Amino acid sequence: MTLVGTNDKTLASPLGDVLEIRGGRPLRGQVDVKGAKNLATKAMVASLLGSTPSTLRDVPEIRDVEVVRSLLEVHGVTVSEGDEAGSLLLDPSGAESAGFEEIDAHAGSSRIPILFCGPLLHLLGQAFIPDLGGCRIGDRPIDFHLEALRNFGATVDKEPNGIRLSAPEGLHGANIELPYPSVGATEQVLLTAVRAKGVTELRNAAIEPEIMDLIGVLQKMGAIISYEPNRVIFIEGVDQLHGYDHRSLFDRNEAASWACAALATDGEIFVKGARQYEMLTFLNVFRKVGGSFDITDEGITFRRAATPLKPVMVETDVHPGFMTDWQQPLIVALTQSTGTSIVHETVYENRLGFTEALNKMGADIVVHAQGLDGEYRRVARRELEQAAVITGPTPLRGADIVVPDLRGGYAYVIAALAAEGTSRVSNVGIIRRGYEKFFDKLTALGADFDIVG
Ligand code: EPU
Repeated sequence: MTLVGTNDKTLASPLGDVLEIRGGRPLRGQVDVKGAKNLATKAMVASLLGSTPSTLRDVPEIRDVEVVRSLLEVHGVTVSEGDEAGSLLLDPSGAESAGFEEIDAHAGSSRIPILFCGPLLHLLGQAFIPDLGGCRIGDRPIDFHLEALRNFGATVDKEPNGIRLSAPEGLHGANIELPYPSVGATEQVLLTAVRAKGVTELRNAAIEPEIMDLIGVLQKMGAIISYEPNRVIFIEGVDQLHGYDHRSLFDRNEAASWACAALATDGEIFVKGARQYEMLTFLNVFRKVGGSFDITDEGITFRRAATPLKPVMVETDVHPGFMTDWQQPLIVALTQSTGTSIVHETVYENRLGFTEALNKMGADIVVHAQGLDGEYRRVARRELEQAAVITGPTPLRGADIVVPDLRGGYAYVIAALAAEGTSRVSNVGIIRRGYEKFFDKLTALGADFDIVG
């Protein structure tokens, strides 16, 4: 299959890496959000656990999906279009070991390959995972994953080009307490425990809606998973799982991004497919900033309630807190609030670097090493750039900017659209890793831009 992408060694840069954006126009119209990047890719990996084919619906057309599809294919899974537009049929009946070079071709392309560990160990007794990619937003260790896999009885060896795992005797249930409710490590445990012998108890688990949807997928496959308050999940291993038929949860990160685009450009965007329940925390902040929204069964319409916008204090956190993936587009809108806002990033170590370019465009953002309070958070009390203090309103003006990562890059495009004058935004290919039909959606909303490289 053809892979499109930007920052990894196999994927050539596609046309559409540089945009010239003429700002100052409100974005108005409708965008459709499909399945969540952070669920669909994991559900695709789960298909490896079944003895029969799976159908995944509302799969977004994004590069991470292409990477996972390709990695499944080199492991013998047949992936074809399903029975409706946007669905994939994943048939694992021919699953087999893949060669080093085929696997290594995916090095640096995504973080999802780490989730192949458990399914491949169950299927083949061994696995080789290439070096991971994903956004450069600070140190992104995988120690929780590897520790959990060792607890299940796997042997884990780090090699120069990746990680080699084996479990010739099979995997057994484990008692695991995560040091932090990591999304990926929780998924690792789920995807491994469902077919391990015996019961697994996972404490301090992540409980993001995408995790709950993955639990739903696994239950459809025949898994027995229950959860208790306080982040405890029990998984009773079973001998066999079968395929699933599942419609992906909508992408709430994409929905929040377009909501902030409406706020920052003073437009009005109907996000078809967005749902209230998974966005409760976001909607509260959106309202406090001065946004308003109408919720229907079809989606959510976002706009400003009043100008000027108001300042807020926000701390990113694990669910049900304010997601780390929501802060970047929100910060662009906060440059237009009257007063001082503070955004404290507590999930990643280095996810505020993108604000430098916003300052170049006229924003007044100072990033401090200390956060809002002394309470324990994963990255609290370290000399890291954690807290952005945004003083507004500051008019934004066009500039030449280079996209640093997925969410920061989206924020740059909104900033360019809100700014007076022309901006040249390069490295835009990264944004298309997580935002389906990005250029088409911008066009549908009336954005004035050209693809110039
Ligand atoms: N962490 C460790 N050790 C580990 C695993 C995580 O120290 O073994 C740390 C991370 O470095 C980070 C924190 O724990 O500081 C949280 O990481 P988590 O494992 O929860 O994140 P993830 O699974 O790598 C997913 C999403 C991210 C999203 C986070 C938080 C995917 C593919 N990625 O990452 O999405 O920000 O959860 O919700 O699901 C994005 O979509 O742009 C994106 C980065």
